[in-house]
Amino acid sequence: MQKKDIFVSDEELNVQRDFAQKVKEIANKKYGRPKANIRTFGCQQNVADSQRIMGMLKDMGYDFVDNSDDADLVIFNTCAVREHAEDRVFGNVGTLVHLKRRKPNTVIGLCGCMMQQEHISKRIKRSFPHVDLVFGTHVVHKLPEMLFKVLSGQGRIFENPDIDGVIAEKIPQVNDSKINGWLPIMYGCNNFCTYCIVPYVRGRERSRNPEDIIADLKEMVANGIKNITLLGQNVNSYDGGITFAELLRKCNEVDGDFVIRFMTSHPKDCSEELLYAMAECQKVEKHLHLPVQSGSSRVLKAMNRHYNRENYLSLVDKAKELMPDLMLTSDIIVGFPSETYEEVKETISLIEKVRYQSLFTFIYSKRKGTPAAEMPDDVSSTEKGKRFRELLAVQEKISEEICKEQVGKTYRVLVEETSRIKGNLYGRTLNNFIVEFEGSEDLVGKFAEIKITSGDTWIIKGKLKG
Ligand code: SAH
Ligand code: SF4
Ligand code: F3S
Repeated sequence: MQKKDIFVSDEELNVQRDFAQKVKEIANKKYGRPKANIRTFGCQQNVADSQRIMGMLKDMGYDFVDNSDDADLVIFNTCAVREHAEDRVFGNVGTLVHLKRRKPNTVIGLCGCMMQQEHISKRIKRSFPHVDLVFGTHVVHKLPEMLFKVLSGQGRIFENPDIDGVIAEKIPQVNDSKINGWLPIMYGCNNFCTYCIVPYVRGRERSRNPEDIIADLKEMVANGIKNITLLGQNVNSYDGGITFAELLRKCNEVDGDFVIRFMTSHPKDCSEELLYAMAECQKVEKHLHLPVQSGSSRVLKAMNRHYNRENYLSLVDKAKELMPDLMLTSDIIVGFPSETYEEVKETISLIEKVRYQSLFTFIYSKRKGTPAAEMPDDVSSTEKGKRFRELLAVQEKISEEICKEQVGKTYRVLVEETSRIKGNLYGRTLNNFIVEFEGSEDLVGKFAEIKITSGDTWIIKGKLKG
């Protein structure tokens, strides 16, 4: 695809702005001041999309409510990554039938990764007649037009074209947080790991221009956002004319006191250039989320991950050498088709070698349409559960040890929130520790120096330095 074809044209965006005005008029007549309830499932890509959905709705005159019962428009932004995620959505959509009966004028919409799948949107069409609007991940920017069609009585709308994907710039957004900001730098994934549905529902990799990213970053900083996460399924393959490492350096040069985080890094594309940029940029987190998935080279090959146990471990060694304070986290899948107990043991030994700060662990979930779904699997779910718990216990011990090792150190933390129960504050270090400490609420959104006094499994505690 030509790069210019990836971007949604200004003309198309103007068409959508006109539709937005029409929706505003209709919705106003129909509901008074219309209210929307947006519920987001899944990862930060969906969170970022929901912020744009809310931005467009705000322009269409909608206010936001936390409860679907009070809403004139309900939208679920869904995730397809595991079966459990999909089941939750089906359960929640089922219960909306009562709302629709009580308030037939309520518009019910479903979007996101699940809806990008043909078999799911067909099932919604057939079995959930109370759903008015279904749209996939590539047409989010067309929300005004789609909503106009629904509100002007053109029937149920299903729009999930199977395309490689687009980039729509200048879509307004609503960010509820005064401290955290999500900044997509690229969309889609080309990796086709054999277990994963994401490349099928998010399209091909496409990168935003560096100027657009930096402009968004500056705006966030000007708005007081302190913790900015650059987002992409595989940020290391960012290609906006410059590399991801170069982009990080540019972000680091932007004036202001803020933290730059990023996810996710695919080990196959994690370059030394990136590690040097991380080490040298003082605003960039000293934390690397580097999903390994498995510690067995045979399983990694079957997963189509394009690295093996040895490559991964040497990458980790290099990263630790360049950044002594570096913390690593990872994603792990247990129970990939045909994975043996010995192979899970290899994953456990890798965990012990790397010593992750924490892990996101998943039991393999079969995804329709992926190559792994066709692979024979002879391990019972009871056995997979047992292996999974064994792995978790090992990680828990390591996490606790790492937390205890922090005692005596002093960290600069960004104070993110207060605990309602104890009146304590929580902050995050550049290397991804959550620190609990006592202090005044005025510190929220600011940086503070904390001396660490104790460590539990997932959290460290400390005292404000006077
Ligand atoms: N792009 C990111 C991850 C996106 S999905 C990456 O490559 O690291 C987040 C995590 O969900 C994956 O890292 C993987 O551990 C897990 N996952 C994806 N598909 C899965 C499946 N079918 N079953 C279980 N876990 C899965
Ligand atoms: Fe899925 Fe692999 Fe792409 Fe990550 S890199 S989104 S796991 S296909
Ligand atoms: Fe789920 Fe889609 Fe993210 S499948 S994990 S919401 S990209």
